[in-house]
This record gives sequence, C-alpha cells and structure tokens, in this order.
Amino acid sequence: MASTTKFFRVLIMVCAIMASIACWTAQATIPDSDGVEELDVTRSDFPSDFTFGVATSAAQTEGSAREGGRGPSTWDHRVDILPDRVINSDKFSTAIDSYTRYKEDINIIKHLGVNSYRFSISWSRLLPKGSLSGGINQEGVDHYNSLIDELIRNGIKPFVTILHFDLPQALEEKYGGYLNRSFVTDFEDYSELCFKLFGDRVKNWFTINEPTVLAVYGYEVGIAPPGKCSLKEGVCVIGSPENCLVPAGPCDFGGDSSTEPYIVAHNLILAHATAVKLYKEKYQVQQKGEIGIVLASKYFVPLSESQEDKAAAERLFDFNLGWFMEPFIHKTPPPSEKLRYSLDISAEETCMKDELFLGSNCEGHWPEGLQKLMEYMKEKYQSPKIYVSENGLYTRRNDSLPLADQLKDPERISYLVRHLYRLNKAIKNGVNVKGYFYWALFDDFEWGMGFSDRYGLYYIDFDHNNRRIPKLSAKWFKDFLESNIVTRASS
Ligand SMILES: *[C@@H]1O[C@H](CO)[C@@H](O)[C@H](O)[C@H]1NC(C)=O
Ligand SMILES: *[C@@H]1O[C@H](CO)[C@@H](O)[C@H](O)[C@H]1NC(C)=O
Repeated sequence: MASTTKFFRVLIMVCAIMASIACWTAQATIPDSDGVEELDVTRSDFPSDFTFGVATSAAQTEGSAREGGRGPSTWDHRVDILPDRVINSDKFSTAIDSYTRYKEDINIIKHLGVNSYRFSISWSRLLPKGSLSGGINQEGVDHYNSLIDELIRNGIKPFVTILHFDLPQALEEKYGGYLNRSFVTDFEDYSELCFKLFGDRVKNWFTINEPTVLAVYGYEVGIAPPGKCSLKEGVCVIGSPENCLVPAGPCDFGGDSSTEPYIVAHNLILAHATAVKLYKEKYQVQQKGEIGIVLASKYFVPLSESQEDKAAAERLFDFNLGWFMEPFIHKTPPPSEKLRYSLDISAEETCMKDELFLGSNCEGHWPEGLQKLMEYMKEKYQSPKIYVSENGLYTRRNDSLPLADQLKDPERISYLVRHLYRLNKAIKNGVNVKGYFYWALFDDFEWGMGFSDRYGLYYIDFDHNNRRIPKLSAKWFKDFLESNIVTRASS
C-alpha cells in the first residue's frame, strides 16, 4: 500500500467530448489564436450518411417526475433529501417539461434539420419499482412509443440511452443499487423490456451513460446519488481548496471510497456486457440494430517529455477510458490495490505549466483534442465504431442580460464549427466516426448545477412556461445541415 503516493503532474488538455460533465469547467470564451483554418468545414465534407443529432436525457428534460405512474429515481431522492446540494432543486421535478411537450420538441428537432435524436428512457417510468416483478407502467410504455413514433414520422432516428444516471430509487433501497450484483439482473430485464417494446423502431442503443462519472461521483466523492463516500471533510472535487465550487460529500450515507467505485464499475461492466450479449443473441438478427456504451474522456498530454509524466498521462487515460474499454477488448487489467480511485491514478491533472495558466484549451475548448482523442481510440482500441454522443458548450445563466443578447451565442457557433472541423479531420484520418450529437438541444437541468448553465441550441425561458427559443447557434446549425457552403463562425 502506498500511503505516500507520488503524483506526477500531467498537462491536461481538455476537450469537451462525449460528456457534458467533462465540460463543467468550460468557459464561454474561445481564443482567437485557435487557428483560422479550423473554421472551414461544410456539411459536404462529411459522408452523406453521417449522423447529425442532438442529445438530451430523461431526468434533465422530462419533468413530470411524479406523474404518469413514474417511480422516483435516485436523483429525485437526492434532490428531496439534500436540496441545498442541488441548485434550483425545486425545479428538478419539472425540468423543462419535455414529457408533456415532446411533440413541440420534435418539431423543433425537425426544424433544426438534424437527422437523429439521442434521448434516454427513464427506467422508473417504465418500471416504477425498478424490477419486472414490480410491474410495468403502461403510461410510460405509451409515452415512449408515442415519442419514438413521432420521431420516426418526422424522419428523425432515435438513439436511445437505456440508463442515464437515473437508477430507480426502489433498487437503491432494495439492495444498494449498483453495488449489488442483483443490479446486473434487473438491468438485463429492463434492457430486454426496452428491446422488446421499442427495438422494432430503435436501431441504436446506448446501454449506460458515462460509467466512470457514475462510479466516481456517486461512490468516491459522493456528489451524485447515492452520495456514498468515506472522505474526511474539506476534500474539494471541483474548484480549488481555497475557492471550492463543489465539495465532496457530505459523506453521511456510509460508503467506502477505496473500494465501492470499483465494485460499482465492475457491476456496470457486467450489466453492459450482459445486455449486449442478450441483444446480439436474441434481438439483433431480427431488429438489425446496434448497441454500445457512452464513455467520457478528455485527451491528456504529458506535462513534459519525462517517462514519469508520460506514464502519468497514460494512467489518466486508463482510469477514464481504459477502465471500461480494456475489458471490452479482453485484456487483463493491471492489479490495483491502492487508496481509492483518484489516488490510484497517481497522476494529477493541471492547467498550469511553469506557473502559467495554459488557457482555455485546458478548460474544455480544444477542438484538436477531440481529433486526437478519436485517433487515440482508433489506435489503442482496434478502431471501434464511434458516435460522439455529446459535445457542447455551456454559458453561465445570467437573467439580467436582455433576452436578445442571451440568444446571441457566437461562441457556441465557433465551438461547433471548430469541433466539427476537427472531427472531420479524424474521419479523413481513418477513424470510424459515424455521428455527432450536439449537447444539448435545450438548456436543461444540469444535475447538481440545476439551471445555472445553459448548454442549449435552444434557449429555455424559465419564467415564461419554459418557452423554447432558437439561439443564433440553432440557426447556424440548421444552415450548416442544409447547405453545402463554407460556413464561418461570426464574432
Ligand atoms: C444483494 O442483494 C440481496 C437481496 O436482493 C442480498 O441478499 C445480498 O446480501 C446483497 N448483496 C450484497 C453484496 O450486498
Ligand atoms: C450579468 O449581466 C449583467 C448585465 O450585463 C452584468 O452586469 C453582470 O456582471 C452579469 N453577471 C454575471 C455573474 O456575469
């Protein structure tokens, strides 16, 4: 046991990829020095069958948390018991009303001109008690049937996430949720129910959203449900010790930060593998769909050329991506017997080099990082088929700005065009990228941050019945999708 773990510093260049949560540190400014060439990209640079989509998740948009026969999720429970730890917690059960307004939303998606929509199914809306034995909620079934039918009627392909952070609270209470191997069985049953009910029309499945985040936030640092951890007070998760934005815990619900994240991750891997096996053996031939997982990672760059720093960067990759990718391509994971997930990495991310701040590249605005990460996936993991299922920029909510100004988001356009340009380069370099989903379609409920950040192509007017209003970026994306002309980010 290494109680004096040595941290090697690595320079981290964060690219906001696949994960809204990976972009939490993003700011709304883009450096001009990022390279003008990145602005030249057109729809026609992409293959004609390329997927362009927008993404959301159930808990962050649906609302109607207690309606339509839905059972509570672990997030509903967290918001109930720890309202102070979730900004805008009183709004969580409403979110942005997409459960009742899905037809309006689909019109918006259609108008936007994307061909695909990634959304998630709320497990506890289908199975209020989490397991099949607790009964199926027909209203939930009807809802997702209507949603899927309406998408297809409008020419939009559904990409469905089966589990996006919202485990039924009933399973947490019954046997400790993800910690218990019973979770694997219930997840398999729930997945099969989804395949049976919707697989005739849904051809693209994601099993689990961001298992690393789920394991670490929920069981090492306790800032997401079920909030388990065993850390001493004062550990800062996001921000600096002097100015901590998100502290760990409170570690009032038991837990073991040293072991539980690994147990949870193990069960998530088993659950994914079980659902994939079931789909492949029982449904794929008939339904002709495909199934994968959503992983979040940044692209890490060694701070120096030293072996230590290079090894540290490698470990950061492994503790983010490799944790899940390695078992999927059947390699033996290295033995690990150290203190807890974040310490076991023995590497630290930093945005400082020689006491200088490295700039917004390091905070979620590094389009080239997206390209590098795609190429890394290709080289390291046998060229898997990849959909960039989340990529997006948030801006801080500021209600005192005039609406017209809030709708002007050139920084989001710039973000989009630069990332699309780099994604296209990765494709040209042979990476098997099949699609791109902007996160998010709407300003949505960003978990613990509530409504404080706005990710949407569409503005949500929280004070006026959650009106959906296109931002400049929605218009830009629509133009991009419709035309073959070279588009440039205006500023
Ligand atoms: C898992 O849950 C079952 C009940 O479903 C219980 O009997 C068992 O002890 C639990 N196992 C663990 C490791 O908590
Ligand atoms: C919000 O906008 C107002 C008006 O422009 C500005 O004075 C204020 O500093 C902004 N607040 C934040 C937190 O950015």
